[in-house]
This record gives sequence, C-alpha cells and structure tokens, in this order.
Amino acid sequence: MEHIERIKSMKSREKIVMLTAYDYCNAKILDSSGIDIILVGDSLGMVVLGYKSTREVTMEDMLRHTKAVANGSKNTLIVADLPYNSDITPDDVVRNARLLLANGAGAVKPEGKPEIAKALTKSGINVMGHAGLLPQTTREYLVQGRDSASAKEIFNMTIALENAGCFAIVLECIPSELAKKITEKLKIPTIGIGAGKYCDGQVLVINDMLGMYDEIKPKFVKRYGNISRAIKESILRYKKDVKDGNFPDDTHSYY
Ligand code: KIV
Repeated sequence: MEHIERIKSMKSREKIVMLTAYDYCNAKILDSSGIDIILVGDSLGMVVLGYKSTREVTMEDMLRHTKAVANGSKNTLIVADLPYNSDITPDDVVRNARLLLANGAGAVKPEGKPEIAKALTKSGINVMGHAGLLPQTTREYLVQGRDSASAKEIFNMTIALENAGCFAIVLECIPSELAKKITEKLKIPTIGIGAGKYCDGQVLVINDMLGMYDEIKPKFVKRYGNISRAIKESILRYKKDVKDGNFPDDTHSYY
C-alpha cells in the first residue's frame, strides 16, 4: 500500500512510530528498524547545527539534510519540515515544498497555518499538520491548551488542518485529555510529542531519546540510551591507546 494511505489506515488500529533523523547514518538505522515515518525536523537547527532556535533553520539546511536522510532510507516515508519563513506566501511554500520533495521527502510539515496546508494539498503535495506548541512562532516553550480558550483554539486548528487535506497531524505539548478529544474527533491520525498516550502515534527527537546530551530532558522524553556516554568512553579509550602507543598495532597496519 502506498505510504500515505497506509499511515491513514493505521488510525485506531496500530500505533504509528515516528522519529526524527537528520543524516544518512541514522536514516539507515531507522529504515532497517521498520519504523513508520522519518521526520527531518527543523529541530535539526538545535540538535545538529547548534542554533539557538528553529527560526534560524534555512531551506538550504532542510534540503541538505533531507537529501542525506533520503540517501539512507529505502522504504520509509520521509516527512520534511518547512522551515521558518519558507511559507510567507502560498507560491513560496509550494515552491519550497517541491524542492524538499525533489530531495527525497514524501510529504512536508508546516507549523499551524491551515491556509498554507490547503495551498499545498491543492497542489497535490502530501501534508502533515502540526498543532499545539509551534516552536517557530511560540514565545515560550510551555504546554499549550491548558485553559479553555486556548484548548478550543487548538481543537479548531486541528479541524481546520484536517479540512485542509492533511493526512496526519502532530500534536506537540498539550494535555493528554485535549489530545484524546482531538484524536477521537479527527478521522486522520494524530501523532503526539508531549501529548500523552491517547494519540494514534508518537514522535520523539532521536537525539533526545538516545541520550545524546545530558543538559536538557523535557518531561515527555523517555531515554532509551545513553549514547553520549558510550561515545565519550570510546573516545577516551582511543585517546589512551594513541597516547600510549598501543594503536595502531600490527593487526591494524599494512605490510
Ligand atoms: O522539528 C521537529 O523535530 C518536530 C517534532 C518536534 C515534531 O517538528
């Protein structure tokens, strides 16, 4: 079955597993693990490029990393984020989305903006919506939709995104009960990050779940590894071997 139809058919049947990837190496591992969707998130600005926020991410960044991920992935649907300011006009966003598709994405993800989602779907482009916390435009990284006015706003936004033709919607950092209400209402799958257990699927930033750093750990992240420690230990062993003259030895030399 075609990727988009398969993801839609998973609603209420089988949980959707999505993780971010930004490079060829991780994409190969994710692809061979059989996860459902790889997201080339603009979180790459912070976790790979060392930017202060996702607002600094450019189309050039997204195109380079989408291409790298596509080079490593044979079977998995790739969704690429549309970066900040790539969607100023409908014409801009359609042009930028087509560039991401040409670099290997199967769908794109703008933040919020049902009118932008509509311009994309009208042009035949597969769109994943994104509601709740919108990192490109938020003033503060806080749980959204705690009071009834903002909960209603988010709820209405998800309906508008579904009506715009999105095939799935990311719900970021909202209370579980609000995510449940949205998930029950929509016909398309919801994929949560910090949105609790009732969503149709889950997404995490791969660097967070692998434990690539110790400093930041939001409540919604579960650590499945401590990769930074494993890397550091290997580097320290290599450093010691070189300093002590134990690497390279005969087995790692040519004769
Ligand atoms: O950029 C990203 O990684 C995202 C996820 C948080 C959903 O959009």
